[in-house]
Amino acid sequence: SILELRLYQGFWLPEHWVPGTVVFQRRFSPRPDDVVLASYPKCGTTWLKALAFAAAARGAYPPAAPGHPLRRLNPHDCVPFIDEIFAGGEEAKLDALPSPRLMNTHLPYTLLPDRVTNAGGCRVVYVCRDPKDMVVSLWHFLRRAKPDLSFVETFESVCDGTVAAGPVWDHVLSYWRPSVARPDRVLFLKYEDLLRDTAANVRRLAEFMGRPFTAAEEAAGDVAAVVELCSFDEMKGLDVNKAGSGTAGRYCAMQRDAFFRKGVAGDWANHMTPEMAARLDGIIREKLQGTGLDFAQGSSRDVD
Ligand code: A3P
Repeated sequence: SILELRLYQGFWLPEHWVPGTVVFQRRFSPRPDDVVLASYPKCGTTWLKALAFAAAARGAYPPAAPGHPLRRLNPHDCVPFIDEIFAGGEEAKLDALPSPRLMNTHLPYTLLPDRVTNAGGCRVVYVCRDPKDMVVSLWHFLRRAKPDLSFVETFESVCDGTVAAGPVWDHVLSYWRPSVARPDRVLFLKYEDLLRDTAANVRRLAEFMGRPFTAAEEAAGDVAAVVELCSFDEMKGLDVNKAGSGTAGRYCAMQRDAFFRKGVAGDWANHMTPEMAARLDGIIREKLQGTGLDFAQGSSRDVD
């Protein structure tokens, strides 16, 4: 496999994720209004972090304000990786976050601490993406560190499930099922839906976090301001997202600009043969069969 992975409770985790995962599982104690932002890597994590932060913190930081933190700080600095915090013994940083605390993880739902997922736990938002576009995004990302990594090797690893937080289908289903059973606790979003109608999803997100936009905020254009603040072009263009490598540190020792590449749906068609696409689609279709979840809309509509 591309990274050094360990099979941990049914999922392939990079070795360096394991210590933080164990401490997170043991020690994290959520507040009722905490929101855990979860995702499979390369499926819209950074965007979700920005949108949720902009929406949740809009009282303290009006989204249109020039000095907004998201214009000064990378989204990974506004919303910490929760398991990375535990890996670094930095729990005090979590305690210091203002409520509602936002934090993110790439762990599957089944690996989240019971204290998050049980009845008295906290809310969870998940974002997923057409796995074909995830592969493309992942390959471009990993190539930064491993220039000779081939696209085919990346593709094969995803099809095998031997990739960080894989298999991707089990990861997606781990969140899909609870989102159906307990929609008040787990909000399930798709990257392609976010692209199609960002404003509607910002409203859903705010409502889910217990902070729906008021009529006055709507009239003032605050939803549109959040969308604009977090838009791909806006974020990619900011100095803070261009320069240097992330203070996201151990988990993401990657240049910040690696998180802002193209930001579209359907780029898979520029990278894989129709046979490869059909093969991955077939695997996903088989795994998701009968669950009520599919990626068909996202895959057919945007590519011509
Ligand atoms: P591409 O490589 O396809 O462009 P993650 O944040 O989970 O690592 O996902 C990264 C993907 O999200 C990249 O996809 C990146 O370009 C895209 N992305 C980052 N910020 C975005 C934004 N504000 N709007 C839309 N897409 C964004």
